[in-house]
Amino acid sequence: MATPTKKRSPRKSTRRKSGQASTKTLARSAGEVVGGVWNNLGRILTGDIHVEFMTLHDFFVAELQDLFSAEQQLLDALPKMAQAATSRSLRKAFLTHRRETVGQVKRLRKVFHLIKVKPGEKTCKAMKGLLAEGDEWMHENAEPGVKDVGLIAAAQRVEHYEIAGYGCVRTYAELLGHAQAAKLLQATLDEEGAADKKLTDLATRLNVRAAPEPIEDTARPRRKAR
Ligand SMILES: [Fe+2]
Repeated sequence: MATPTKKRSPRKSTRRKSGQASTKTLARSAGEVVGGVWNNLGRILTGDIHVEFMTLHDFFVAELQDLFSAEQQLLDALPKMAQAATSRSLRKAFLTHRRETVGQVKRLRKVFHLIKVKPGEKTCKAMKGLLAEGDEWMHENAEPGVKDVGLIAAAQRVEHYEIAGYGCVRTYAELLGHAQAAKLLQATLDEEGAADKKLTDLATRLNVRAAPEPIEDTARPRRKAR
């Protein structure tokens, strides 16, 4: 009778693959990093290293550049939104706001000139995202009234973003003593607020048109007929 051959259990390789660091090496590197940070912190505190922190002025400029990019993107998007709108009043509102946006870009240029800073090449990622969502909606196969309601929702998200942005930069301009710039930014903030209100008014009218029948309020319990 043949003796069964004993299967060898696969031995785990103790060899490290190239590029794999040992625990000791990792611990040493971590220690070096911590030590380096600690040493530099000490040097910062004693004044040996001068660290440049972002100032309110820097933040003000960055936020202005963000808004400048947002407005430029909106200039391209508004005609497309107007074209997608089925209601004449909504189309008109988008085109009116485009004209206002041209003026808002001019105001921002004046602000940059006043504070002696260039508008820069920054891309506002938030506006890019908001407009991408709006663009998606424009290609959606929706009823005409519903399409308009969706376009208003997209436009109001944009307006609210701008209102938040302009409200902030107006306040920073005041804090930094740029009175003329603050005045210009307030003018745009007022325009954005009015545009948002106009969209709300339009939405109220369009929402009614878009609803096929009154929506039943199921939250209230019904009274039993006696
Ligand atoms: Fe705007």
